[in-house]
Amino acid sequence: MSTAAKGLEGVIAADTELSFIDGEKGVLEYVGIAIDELARHSSFEETVFLLWNKRLPKKNELDEFRTLIRKNSEISDATVAQINALPKTAQPMHALRTMVSYLALEDSEPNSVKPDEVQRKALSILCKAPAIVTTFDRRRRGLERVSPDPDLSIAANFLYMLNGKKPTETMERAFDVCLILHADHGLNASTFTGRVIISTLSDIYSTITGAIGALRGPLHGGANEGVMTMLNEIPSVDDVEKYVLDKLKRKDKIMGFGHRVYKAYDPRATYLKTLAKQLASDTGNSDLYEKSHRVEEIMDREVGSKGIYPNVDFYSATTYHCIGLQLDLFTPMFALSRISGWTGHALEQLETNRLIRPGAEYNGPHGVSYTPIEKR
Ligand code: ACO
Repeated sequence: MSTAAKGLEGVIAADTELSFIDGEKGVLEYVGIAIDELARHSSFEETVFLLWNKRLPKKNELDEFRTLIRKNSEISDATVAQINALPKTAQPMHALRTMVSYLALEDSEPNSVKPDEVQRKALSILCKAPAIVTTFDRRRRGLERVSPDPDLSIAANFLYMLNGKKPTETMERAFDVCLILHADHGLNASTFTGRVIISTLSDIYSTITGAIGALRGPLHGGANEGVMTMLNEIPSVDDVEKYVLDKLKRKDKIMGFGHRVYKAYDPRATYLKTLAKQLASDTGNSDLYEKSHRVEEIMDREVGSKGIYPNVDFYSATTYHCIGLQLDLFTPMFALSRISGWTGHALEQLETNRLIRPGAEYNGPHGVSYTPIEKR
């Protein structure tokens, strides 16, 4: 019998002061502040500062931080040329991962792990990621790229560069809230990946590139795209019950439900549910919200007693659709936000670094003699 903790469940592998999760009570805090408070009162820029400095900024600090963000938001002509060289058929998550890795090649000293250098490089990655994703997306749609507008927030700029027109205040705020809600979440799979990479004293470009790769998986951040695919497959609210029951019977997972840590309602999902409902009504997508809500009702009836509730990805799907994002931009949008959390954790790991190198229980044979190739 293996003594390994499958999926490392319950294993405490790091100390952190960034996010606190109480999975039984459905609580999430960033540096002690309830996620709901941040979603109501903060901005993504302020949340990034919080995660990188473990305190809220003073007004002048936030102004300075916003100025730095503006200065870092444009990508070089060489980066644009690299994006233009990518196949138009590539998936945006693969494009983003490749281009974050590429940014290291434009840095004359990519390897420094001094905290201020890591923060400076990470800020550059965080600020450039929206331009990378939108440049890639507009090119595949045959549209000219749109440069960032220095007067706009990260949220507004993303939508501006994507659509070529400034978003409404409601859309900007909705997108900003999504960025806040996705910024950090304990030692999730991609953050753990990032901490492992930086623990080797590798660089922040490799850290974020690796973390993007982990986030893409359908059991992690890729689930938001799976949710939308599912909602598209269900013709109407009346078809939801049969669809869900058939899947459960086949032991298929319903995307956007369940969580390793939460056995209560994910507080991010609570917030996103309200947001999705409002945006769906504002944008004529109420049928999508109704389908989502019906999926939740059936899941609650069937598996709610096992502690399987909607996670952050479930109502994100309806929210992003209403904001106007194409399906395969859902997970890149998650990545744009989570770069902030990955960086916070990388900085924290470096504070008291020791190489992360767990053990494995060997269950194979011993003393096997080497068989020459012609005798196998
Ligand atoms: N639909 C149906 N059943 C589920 C679901 C689901 N979404 N999630 C868990 N279960 C069931 C499993 O079938 C299993 O049942 P069993 O005990 O009868 O065999 C039990 O709950 C435990 O499931 P595990 O997969 O072992 O739980 P684990 O903690 O490893 O997985 C995970 C968590 C990966 C999130 C899982 O719930 C899942 O696959 N969900 C769907 C994908 C998803 O939404 N991922 C996003 C998570 S949030 C994030 O990463 C940003």
